[in-house]
Amino acid sequence: MLGLVLLVGITVLFVTGLVSYAAYNPDLSPVNDQTPDKGILGFYLFAWPTHPHWLYRLNQGVHVTLGIALIPVLLAKLWSVVPRLFALPPARSLAHALERISLLLLVGGALFEFVTGVLNVQLDYVFPGSFYPLHLYGAWVFFAAFVAHVLLKMPTALRNLRHLREEKNDLVTPRPAEPTVSRRGALWFVGGGSLLLFATTAGQNFDGPLRRTALLAPHGGDEPGSGPNGFQINKTAAYAGIDTAETGEDAWRLVVTGRTGTVRLSRAQLAGLSLHSSALPIACVEGWSTSDQWWRGVRLRDLAALVGYDDDPPDVFVESLQARGAFRKAALRANQVADARSLLALYVNGEDLSPDHGHPARIIVPAAPGVLNTKWVARMTFGDL
Ligand code: HEM
Repeated sequence: MLGLVLLVGITVLFVTGLVSYAAYNPDLSPVNDQTPDKGILGFYLFAWPTHPHWLYRLNQGVHVTLGIALIPVLLAKLWSVVPRLFALPPARSLAHALERISLLLLVGGALFEFVTGVLNVQLDYVFPGSFYPLHLYGAWVFFAAFVAHVLLKMPTALRNLRHLREEKNDLVTPRPAEPTVSRRGALWFVGGGSLLLFATTAGQNFDGPLRRTALLAPHGGDEPGSGPNGFQINKTAAYAGIDTAETGEDAWRLVVTGRTGTVRLSRAQLAGLSLHSSALPIACVEGWSTSDQWWRGVRLRDLAALVGYDDDPPDVFVESLQARGAFRKAALRANQVADARSLLALYVNGEDLSPDHGHPARIIVPAAPGVLNTKWVARMTFGDL
């Protein structure tokens, strides 16, 4: 039964993980591609859509919440098979030896994926090297071993499900020790653990009282601050090293480059352009998200038109004032630029953006991962990437 829960759960994790990877548009531009050596593993990549606007929020909420809720199931499954893992002789035949090697990849891969995932969510990552290649390549190794394991064990799993109530099935030990817990008790224990993790994590995908229930999530608890800008962020302006001297009205200029040259715009000039509103969430790869916020700013396609792309907005390369960090630069696809809801936002919920939300101006695009919504934008270069 634990295996069958994992069969569904791990498959959903694998698919949502690959979909999340595609959401970064890694084949668009080298700056988006954290795994330039991926080779054929990128075979399925597709142009990330902008509809529905909650697509990334849903995908990543499911990926992270499900991954955390499955931890007790994975641990219980490993506990239930530990005696078999160390059975002697280690291999009875060549075929058995190969299966044992695949088990190393299965158990090692499972532990690696769950540990790196949880560390990324909880600690903003502490491993050497970038999270993206490790978690992506680890996922392929783990899932390949997982598929082999399911194919080899499915007949046993089905046979045992059919004979669940009989004393004699393949999973019953011939020399049972005194039971310390009934089968039903063990399943309740595991299920209860999963439910508890779910209940203390899922709230990070919502606002207000629900977010406060996410006791185990670093972006759960109370909203940071109050008022129109009092909604969740990942990094403060201070953490990103944004110097207020660079963002003042006199100092800051947005540099927009395209087919017809370069224009420089102050914030007051941007505010004088045609402004539009869109209701869009912030959704982070770490699995937290906000509900829709009211952003107001200049459409990305209108900025493209300023530099010579009147009806055919191309891709755009966006750079932040942020000095360090993997995502201080990001490329967006032409379809993301063309969407009428994609903005260079100056205001949120009726107020100026706060420094932590990206003042003087930030990108906001429907369905895009949070880090592609660059904050503290300094430069935008339109053109095919
Ligand atoms: C993260 C996923 C999983 C891990 C880490 C895992 C790990 C293991 C290990 C280490 C064994 C003992 C190896 C052996 O003696 O053959 C085992 C056995 C088994 N697994 Fe899995 N497994 C996973 C998922 C699944 C799934 C999805 C199924 C459902 C088809 C499944 C069904 C079985 C069965 C039926 C056995 C045989 C138990 C026995 O003969 O005593 N496992 N698993």
